Amino acid sequence: MAVVSKGLEGIVAAETQMSFIDGEKGVLEYVGIAIDELARNSTFEETVFLLWNQRLPRKAELDAFNKALRAQYDLPPFIDGLIAAFPKNAQPMHVLRTAVSAMALVDPNPNSIEPAEYRAKALAILAKTGAIIAAFDRRRRGLEPIKPDHSLSFAANFLYLLNGSKPTPTMERAFDVCMILHADHGLNASTFTGRVIASTLSDIYSVMSGAIGALRGPLHGGANEGVMVMLEEIGSVEKVDAWVDDALKNKKKIMGFGHRVYKAYDPRATYLKTLAEQLSKDTGNEKLYQMSSGIEKRMHDAVAAKGIYPNVDFYSATTYHALGLKLDLFTPMFALSRISGWAAHCIEQLAANRLIRPDAEYTGPHEVDYTPIDRRG
Ligand code: CMC
Repeated sequence: MAVVSKGLEGIVAAETQMSFIDGEKGVLEYVGIAIDELARNSTFEETVFLLWNQRLPRKAELDAFNKALRAQYDLPPFIDGLIAAFPKNAQPMHVLRTAVSAMALVDPNPNSIEPAEYRAKALAILAKTGAIIAAFDRRRRGLEPIKPDHSLSFAANFLYLLNGSKPTPTMERAFDVCMILHADHGLNASTFTGRVIASTLSDIYSVMSGAIGALRGPLHGGANEGVMVMLEEIGSVEKVDAWVDDALKNKKKIMGFGHRVYKAYDPRATYLKTLAEQLSKDTGNEKLYQMSSGIEKRMHDAVAAKGIYPNVDFYSATTYHALGLKLDLFTPMFALSRISGWAAHCIEQLAANRLIRPDAEYTGPHEVDYTPIDRRG
């Protein structure tokens, strides 16, 4: 009998040059560069260039990349009209998945996987995703969408489209760092989904909408919203210990903790923790941060021995909250960044493609007689 690896744990299903993870030591590198180095020194745009080209850009290359990305910030009128027609109470992840999928309808050549065209499509989807999320959020608040500002960075343009005012340099930088930290992460569930779709030689819009669907789940990108819901439910620092003890006693999964790969502190969480602390102080609202560090402490005492530590979603919830983002925009923020990683992986997949088609171990019956419908009990 074949050995079945439930959840494909430990199965190596692809070679990649995007990100390296050492789950025991808590190391994450993009193309060999430590995530901490990138978070301190890089920008999201430069990080995307790195992932799409496996090297850092020279100045002129980065300028050209920024120019090309900014030129694609605007939404096609069809997508704008579509968003206007969406029910106001729709969930932003469903909106995002639908709008990205619909972009295929206004692409004259949606199915092309020719490398240069594929990259151009990836760039356009990445550039427009912020406008999709912001346009829907503004419309549901009864506000008109704002035209993108092509002089702004990816991070600043998104916050501008959402809020109608340009972010402070601190807010822009904090959001930019969040985008860097979420850009890629090995063969996670949504990236694997994207690579499976790409491996059938399907189009990039199908790749992106499938990956967005996988990301939405609470065991993956949806956990950042789950963290916020948990913080709201707990309500105060004093109630943290009893809440955590009770949840663990009832075998509840604590959102934002644990990881299939990391059995040490997720290096992205280390950085986000610092960011969350700083932003909470800056905005004068430290309650959520204090509750989060209380949960971390209680969880550490209870389950660190089992290798369960905060993951990327734990402190990103407090960070996004401090940046003024609404709860149901947290997972779309993950998608906004991760689109770059999905694209990188699919470019890589197509460069040396083989259909991804694993086996399943059949565990049902054999040689069963066909019973006519009138004789079935
Ligand atoms: N809270 C409490 N116990 C946990 C948690 C948690 N968050 N995560 C794992 N455990 C325990 C689990 O109960 C099990 O214990 P036991 O062996 O006693 O039954 C053990 O750790 C192994 O857990 P598992 O669910 O088999 O591990 P997995 O590798 O299948 O799951 C995970 C990984 C991320 C789905 C899981 O840790 C989880 O559900 N975490 C909460 C959701 C979350 O934060 N997801 C975001 C992941 S990071 C961002 C991303 O990549 O999307």
